[in-house]
Amino acid sequence: MIQYIFRFIPASVSLVWVIVSVSVLLFLYVQLSVLSRREPPGPRPLPLLGNLFQVDLKRLDQSLFDLSKKYGPVFLVSFGPKKVVVLAGYRTVKQALVNQANEFGNREVTPIFYDFNKEHGILFANGDSWKEMRRFTLSTLRDFGMGKSISEQRIIEECGWLIEEFDQFQGKPFDDTHTISYAVSNVLSGLMFGKRFEYRDPLLQAIVNRDNETIYLTGTASILIYNMFPWMGPWLKNWKALMKNMEDGKADLGKIITELKDTLDSDTCRCFVDVFLTQKQNLKGNNHTHYHDDNLLYTVMNLFAAGTDTTATTINWCLLFMAKYPHIQERVQEELNQVVGSRQVRIEDRKNLPFTDAVIHESQRLANIAPMAIPHTTSKDVIFQGYFIKKGTTVLPLLTSVLYDESEWESPRTFNPSHFLDKEGKFIKRDAFMPFSAGRRVCLGESLARMDIFLFFTSLLQHFSFTPPAGISEDELDLTPVVGFTLAPQPQGLCALSKKYGPVFQIYFGPKKVVVLAGYRTVKQALVNHAVEFGNREVTPIFYDFNKGHGILFANGDSWREMRRFSLTTLKDFGMGKRLSEEKIIEECYYLIEEFERFKGKPFINSQAIHYAVSNVMSAVTFGKRFEYTDPVFQAMVDRDNESIHLAGTASVMIYNLLPWLGPYLKNWRDLMKNIEDGKSDIGKIIADLKNTLDPNLCRCFVDAFLIRKQNLEESKINSSLYNDNNLLYSVMNLFGAGNDTTGNTLKWCLLYMAKHPCVQEQVQDELKRVVGSRQVRVEDRKNLPFTDAVIHESQRLANIGPMALPHATSQDVTFQGYFIKKGTTVIPLLTSVLYDESEWESPYSFNPSHFLDKEGKFIKRDAFLAFSAGRRACLGKVWPEWSSFCSSPPCSSTLLLPLRLEFQRMSWI
Ligand code: HEM
Repeated sequence: MIQYIFRFIPASVSLVWVIVSVSVLLFLYVQLSVLSRREPPGPRPLPLLGNLFQVDLKRLDQSLFDLSKKYGPVFLVSFGPKKVVVLAGYRTVKQALVNQANEFGNREVTPIFYDFNKEHGILFANGDSWKEMRRFTLSTLRDFGMGKSISEQRIIEECGWLIEEFDQFQGKPFDDTHTISYAVSNVLSGLMFGKRFEYRDPLLQAIVNRDNETIYLTGTASILIYNMFPWMGPWLKNWKALMKNMEDGKADLGKIITELKDTLDSDTCRCFVDVFLTQKQNLKGNNHTHYHDDNLLYTVMNLFAAGTDTTATTINWCLLFMAKYPHIQERVQEELNQVVGSRQVRIEDRKNLPFTDAVIHESQRLANIAPMAIPHTTSKDVIFQGYFIKKGTTVLPLLTSVLYDESEWESPRTFNPSHFLDKEGKFIKRDAFMPFSAGRRVCLGESLARMDIFLFFTSLLQHFSFTPPAGISEDELDLTPVVGFTLAPQPQGLCALSKKYGPVFQIYFGPKKVVVLAGYRTVKQALVNHAVEFGNREVTPIFYDFNKGHGILFANGDSWREMRRFSLTTLKDFGMGKRLSEEKIIEECYYLIEEFERFKGKPFINSQAIHYAVSNVMSAVTFGKRFEYTDPVFQAMVDRDNESIHLAGTASVMIYNLLPWLGPYLKNWRDLMKNIEDGKSDIGKIIADLKNTLDPNLCRCFVDAFLIRKQNLEESKINSSLYNDNNLLYSVMNLFGAGNDTTGNTLKWCLLYMAKHPCVQEQVQDELKRVVGSRQVRVEDRKNLPFTDAVIHESQRLANIGPMALPHATSQDVTFQGYFIKKGTTVIPLLTSVLYDESEWESPYSFNPSHFLDKEGKFIKRDAFLAFSAGRRACLGKVWPEWSSFCSSPPCSSTLLLPLRLEFQRMSWI
């Protein structure tokens, strides 16, 4: 054909034509081959150092993830002279590791990995030896029950030991890292050696602790540098420590293998090592066999190293998340309780525990313990997403970028179990859940690890609740990982509080035995059905210092009974819960509103004004007068009370209660004593004024009523010993002290909840506008304000301001729920456990006014609303009947209607 064409064109033209054509073809070929050899983009490297200054070696995965945002999902970075291709994002990592599994399936044997295993074993090996060891290991471990019921049984047995170990800490903070590693290692040991070790066995401890240290050291910056410049090794401390660990590890595991060798019986294989040795014997004489001592030793070492730290670290993260998010922990425990009860959890339960399963998956996702998997290399030249990657190039599958991929996860950086739940709460698998990596090098122990994590986690949560140590809040628990080859949580001394003791249990505070009552049913049963037996007050040394057994709060016997009865009837006479007190509260509201308005909508601390308003209502009833908020005596009285309540709960005063002789050496005790003396003096003066102006025909207040009663009794020569000055002084101090802090704090919580949930605040204001309009709110409006009423109750429930009530004591020997409790035993009615009781409240830990509303939006009373405690010692105001009046509010400020209403609740406190 070409000859035919040439025949028609002159020779000179045809030569030019040939030259041009060949040139074009050549040009195209060169362009194409340049294009097809195009390297992935990436930051410009410096000679010799590469991109070392553009990445943070202390958090390499994160800084590579950041670079991927600029350079795309396939990019090149240079660590020193070494070029590394990074794969980022779920789609890219999956495309490489799964769709092009062969090309991306080799292991990068860095200098440190070579030092570890000399290319034997599985983790850091390639080629036929790796293939044979991986195949053999997978099938042998499966024969020995990996992912099946035999290993389930082993794990369950180990759960028992682990729980026993946790129990020994009796709820005190401890570092659970090692213990969990021992348990996980023992499961592997059962498969590999056919035996488990005691947790105290120095051999087990040495193997596990060394492996953990090795994994940490391998990820340090100095070892990354060693991998670039191996000649530096002997000068690097971490490298020397790693080499020593390797030698010691080889010696320890070598000894165990030798023992098994010496007792080998090929007909009854006890474990993985036996099967390997038998296979080796069978292949004797074959010069090309992979079944030699090095492969045995390094495979065993690999499985321990790869399986122990990873699994234990994951369980540790799960527990840390539970301590940090207690409402999620509660839900897991609730689900376990409903589905499994108290029997042992089994793998087959998993399908019926969707929330628990979601929590485990989400913990593993967010923990992201193997952020860059283990480096791979390309097994041949490959064109990937248009880029040319040469055979032997190091490849990092960036698992961080998969587990935190913004196009895959709704809220990648937050702990959100809903990532794994559908709308009906059923568990859903997510493709981008890849903590075990994928493809040819996918984690070999995945099925065992998943079984370990599920059974250890659920068994632990059946027996314990995990909390931060005393003095640390959930918010303060730190989720920043310790960066090594894996990302581990920082040891934070979590407490494993045993759940096994049930609703009546005893604990010791120093030498003092205390019985705790937990849950609505138990607290009610004790305080209401056994009111007399559980109705005494525990008078601790500090309570005795406060009142010397007089007054109401910290008194017992006839004196307490008479003072409580007298206070109750007198306060009622003075209009507590009636129109009279409604008017007093309304008057005080005006002052409080005036105070708030002074700030003209700017941020301010509302504490003091609220406490002053609350105290003034009490003062009106007790002393017949109110104080200006700027009055220094009044301020001192209120502030002192608040400080005393704070100080009485401090650790040093708790210690004083155990060892009272320490008092004079404790600053808080001395401050408290001064507060008491100053308070006595201030209130004493007010009482003295009232005494001096007393007119028996005109009773102005509670103090007057007491003094008149005293006079009458003295005149009629009736034994009046209970109506003495001490009882007057301390009863007044008690009413003042008990009402001020509690009511003030409740009010503050209400306001805070309104600010936090503006839509609820709006609903309250809408209802008030609809029902009351601009006129004054009155107590009788309450029945027409169901939502507002529900919001107030719910605020009080969630605020839980008196979490342990005040300690009680048994007034006589009592047998309760089958337990004998001696007369005089201190009893704590745990109101937290009532107000947050999972079997009473639909969502105990969230602010949910529907707890107090029926389907039609009507207000409903809830029995478990025991914010004022119950029984003989219930808050003094609680015994009054339903409110007969409701306070009103000035029309100017609708946001203040809420505090006004709460002001009434306060009456029921006192
Ligand atoms: C939560 C626990 C675990 C996690 C998150 C985990 C994760 C991983 C990851 C990311 C890899 C690297 C995959 C890659 O290179 O692409 C890996 C490899 C490996 N894992 Fe695991 N692993 C866990 C538990 C275990 C257990 C229990 C064992 C032992 C029974 C084990 C044995 C191995 C081995 C031998 C390899 C190397 C596979 C190979 O190179 O062919 N892992 N694992």
